[in-house]
Amino acid sequence: MSSTDTPADALAIRTADEFRGLYGGVPEGVWAAPGRVNLIGEHTDYNDGFALPFALPQRTRVAAARRTDGMLRLHSADVPSGVLTVRVADLDPAHPPQAPDGWARYPAGVVWALLDADLPVPVGLRGGADLHIRSDVPTGAGLSSSAALEVAAALALTELYGIPLARPELAALARRAENAYVGVPCGVMDQMASACATDGHALHLDTRDLRQQHIPFDCAAAGLRLLVVDTRVQHDLADGAYAERRSSCHEAAAALGLPALRDLPYPELDRALGRLGDPTVRRRVRHVVTENERVVRVEELLRAGRLREAGPLLTEGHASLRDDYEVSCPELDLAVATANAAGAYGARMTGGGFGGSALALIDADAEPAVTRAVTEAFARAGHRPPRITAAEPSAGAHRVL
Ligand code: GLA
Repeated sequence: MSSTDTPADALAIRTADEFRGLYGGVPEGVWAAPGRVNLIGEHTDYNDGFALPFALPQRTRVAAARRTDGMLRLHSADVPSGVLTVRVADLDPAHPPQAPDGWARYPAGVVWALLDADLPVPVGLRGGADLHIRSDVPTGAGLSSSAALEVAAALALTELYGIPLARPELAALARRAENAYVGVPCGVMDQMASACATDGHALHLDTRDLRQQHIPFDCAAAGLRLLVVDTRVQHDLADGAYAERRSSCHEAAAALGLPALRDLPYPELDRALGRLGDPTVRRRVRHVVTENERVVRVEELLRAGRLREAGPLLTEGHASLRDDYEVSCPELDLAVATANAAGAYGARMTGGGFGGSALALIDADAEPAVTRAVTEAFARAGHRPPRITAAEPSAGAHRVL
């Protein structure tokens, strides 16, 4: 797990240099973990379902060194808050370290989760660590900057302290930090994508047992491009709407006598819907079950190299999130409709929703036209200018220096 599988990038070198300036010593290493885009399989992960994310080229770097005095020192180059110092022994979910944007809760939560877990070697970790963080994953864009930070910190600390954690376990631990320490009730997809994805592949994820398969996903070779449209509408998963969707799914599964909505097979959907009285709950269930089915179908198309044919399923997924799950917003709907009208094979919101980013599958040479169409549509509608970039399935977390 400690191999350096990609060459050090300029930001990693800069992160190491900054560490020296801040803490006066050389970091023992620099680790990086990416943000993610989910191709399909949204709001399925807390229903034990399937998802198909891939890692972004944008990553969070963590330069780190061990300490022996029980202090955890944290610094972020991206948020002006100075060095935060906390005693490892004082880490407590009820009193997380305070910093602008709350960024320090994520690495602190990882240290807490490592100590709280039933792991063989947490003793050295009680000595503390110095961490310096620098990221180019956009925050608040639905691209999992939080998971990137958690996973980078978890990888740095487990490698430094020789804590043996396989990647899916590391992802589950990072998720626990976010759930129990930061207080965001997310599923495990983002952390799994950041920890386990590989270059040129989408990660087919079974969130019930964290089994994964790496599905070749080479858009460039097929003359395709994936555009990420950051609507710049900030979402907040700690917001009640996410938790409300989650509990209504769990209640629906219980009402149907199932462990999770994952256990409702697609062919039995209509019969099951007939057993649910509340029309809103029926729509939520329909989204989850049809979305799991879409993951299966998109995965098959990817395996068969029929990438373009996945487009309509992406758009279908968006309609389901917009109409049945009700987690879209006007900016996401506009991005999707405009990209499709400008020639995309398909498009959808990606991530939790209520803002954040949309994804469009387009011919590579259509990029200027689709970008222009979406930018102009946003201007006409009076929305903030979107940030539009192309994404390539990239490497998961690794040691860079
Ligand atoms: C957020 C959460 C994930 C997942 C998605 C929706 O990104 O962090 O766990 O639930 O929303 O698919």
